[in-house]
Amino acid sequence: MIPSESVRTIERLSSGIKELDVLIDGGYPKSRSVLITGGPGVGKTIIALQFINDACANGLKCIYLATEETPEELKIQAAQLGLSISEYEKNGLLTFEPVLAERMDDVTWQRGKNTGTSLFKKPLNSIKSSDADIVVLDNIGSYTLDTTIGTFREQMDYLVNTIRERKMTGLIISDEALNERYNNVAQYSVHGAIHMFKRESPFTGNVERLMNVVKMRGTNTPLSYVRYSINQNGINVQNQKESK
Ligand SMILES: Nc1ncnc2c1ncn2[C@@H]1O[C@H](COP(=O)(O)OP(=O)(O)OP(=O)(O)O)[C@@H](O)[C@H]1O
Ligand SMILES: [Mg+2]
Repeated sequence: MIPSESVRTIERLSSGIKELDVLIDGGYPKSRSVLITGGPGVGKTIIALQFINDACANGLKCIYLATEETPEELKIQAAQLGLSISEYEKNGLLTFEPVLAERMDDVTWQRGKNTGTSLFKKPLNSIKSSDADIVVLDNIGSYTLDTTIGTFREQMDYLVNTIRERKMTGLIISDEALNERYNNVAQYSVHGAIHMFKRESPFTGNVERLMNVVKMRGTNTPLSYVRYSINQNGINVQNQKESK
């Protein structure tokens, strides 16, 4: 069967990293969510900042929901990378929303009653009341506290569906603060998933940074690990491939 035009050509948004775009058929699939997982310092926040910087440069509206870092810290990080984030915030294309306090509310809610409405209540409220094209949620690791894996899956599906219904493109970040099983489950809910990690090179003995495009529906994904580095310009993806 020949797929219809709309099925064949899912629109893409540049990741803000040209070499990564090449590897994932042009960028992140539009109006879908991609999950970025990885341990501390692998570059999850930087990959998100590069994405929204490129999107704002193209006139798209973004919201950045931050649970760990304050907007000030994020702006300093972006400025160090030479990104024009503050300028986009001033002209209204970019909004940072700290959701730290709300996260604590959610934890209280989970302890109180573990059924019913929403684990991601406050981020969902922000998403539902926003007319942004792009939402970054950095990060969901802490939301899994005290939640069963079944509830977490349900709530992830709800979050991802809400982002899609709003016709937003979502970048959902998850650290490794909690059980790996939660990240594995989260990878099923989303359209695409990229895992970022460090490992000692079997050839040189040096520690190297690698990305694993775990999945990207409708995309010809690289079957090998993608090597990257971080410098004052942010994340640089190299095209040398490593076997998995
Ligand atoms: N100018 C630079 N040169 C080299 N590496 C840098 C530079 N700036 C940042 N880094 C690297 O990027 C890392 C921070 O990246 P980032 O904040 O995106 O990580 P993260 O995955 O979001 O971490 P966390 O889980 O703590 O939030 C630093 O730990 C450092 O290794
Ligand atoms: Mg971070």
